[in-house]
Amino acid sequence: MSVTDKGRENMEKKDCSGDIVSRFLRGEEFTRKDFVKLLEQKENPKVCECLQKEALQLRRQYYGDKVYIRGLIEFTNYCKNNCYYCGIRCGNPHVKRYRLSEEEILSCCDNGYKLGFRTFVLQGGEDPYYDDEKMVSIIRKIKEKYPDCALTLSIGEKSEESYRRFREAGADRYLLRHETANKAHYRLLHPEEMSLINRKNCLYTLKKLGYQVGAGFMVGSPEQTLEHLAEDLIFLRELQPDMVGIGPFIPHHDTRYAEEQAGDVEWTLFLLSIIRIMFPKVLLPATTALGTMDVRGREKGLLAGANVIMPNLSPKENRKDYELYDNKICTGEEAAECRQCLARRVESVGCHIVTDRGDALY
Ligand code: 5AD
Ligand code: FES
Repeated sequence: MSVTDKGRENMEKKDCSGDIVSRFLRGEEFTRKDFVKLLEQKENPKVCECLQKEALQLRRQYYGDKVYIRGLIEFTNYCKNNCYYCGIRCGNPHVKRYRLSEEEILSCCDNGYKLGFRTFVLQGGEDPYYDDEKMVSIIRKIKEKYPDCALTLSIGEKSEESYRRFREAGADRYLLRHETANKAHYRLLHPEEMSLINRKNCLYTLKKLGYQVGAGFMVGSPEQTLEHLAEDLIFLRELQPDMVGIGPFIPHHDTRYAEEQAGDVEWTLFLLSIIRIMFPKVLLPATTALGTMDVRGREKGLLAGANVIMPNLSPKENRKDYELYDNKICTGEEAAECRQCLARRVESVGCHIVTDRGDALY
């Protein structure tokens, strides 16, 4: 090694071991203030690089070069809620609403299974049309037909009783982003009827019922501060989820936030690395929103510590109507096209897609 290389390495070590960063890397119990200090290091490129390297190394240590894929089936864009940032909120009259029938959902799974998917994610707005009975029937049919597949639900806040029935019917996992762990910030982004306490309680209930649980938040949502992000990290530490979904906030033209700034790609990557370091075994998707903000966003996400990708299996004709934010990618592609495209993208960063259920490691 040349003198200059050696010097650079030492420099890097030194920069990286700035007090707050080295305390973080040692896994010390952080307060909110500590997390804010760590997040302030986003301005320091050396620290960003150092955390990214550490996160990548941890991802490789636990998952090697494996990337898990989940087939997302957006089965309804009806929603009774009115989250102010979301394109399919009930208060948006410009959405062309659709629901998939049980047969249509099963045919998405069929297509997905042939493409190598062994996890299906049923995601939708909070749509009362799919009552417990209908959901249980769909869950049973999918699990009967594909006993070797994991089934994930992402259908919002329900009662403990409903969650229990879905679980008994065979659902394995549940995704429910907490969106923001700060009460005032939650209030700002959601109408009166929704509450952060209820959302957090849902997550704890899901855990108790034996689901593998995913929480998460948007990066750069309106009025978000470093303190809010620090609280998100503290909440995640308390919840200990199996999966954490984060992606940049992207304005939707039919919302009050149409003119807001979108969340930043670099910030999302920085947070992905922090989350990988905090939870080395966590399932961490490189999200579609990240891919929307940057053509190589998902690849960069994998290099920052992510290990999951969730392409769309929804019928092509419905995709553009599941528009949570503007310019969402892959709305014109068939599932098979996305599958091919993803294989190439994942390989371009030295990883490869595996076709197993990809359960959380314990
Ligand atoms: N920008 C980015 N992400 C969004 N979501 C909803 N609306 C937006 C938006 N405008 C995210 C939320 C939700 C997930 C399904 O999509 O975090 O939980
Ligand atoms: Fe859908 Fe690339 S992943 S086209």
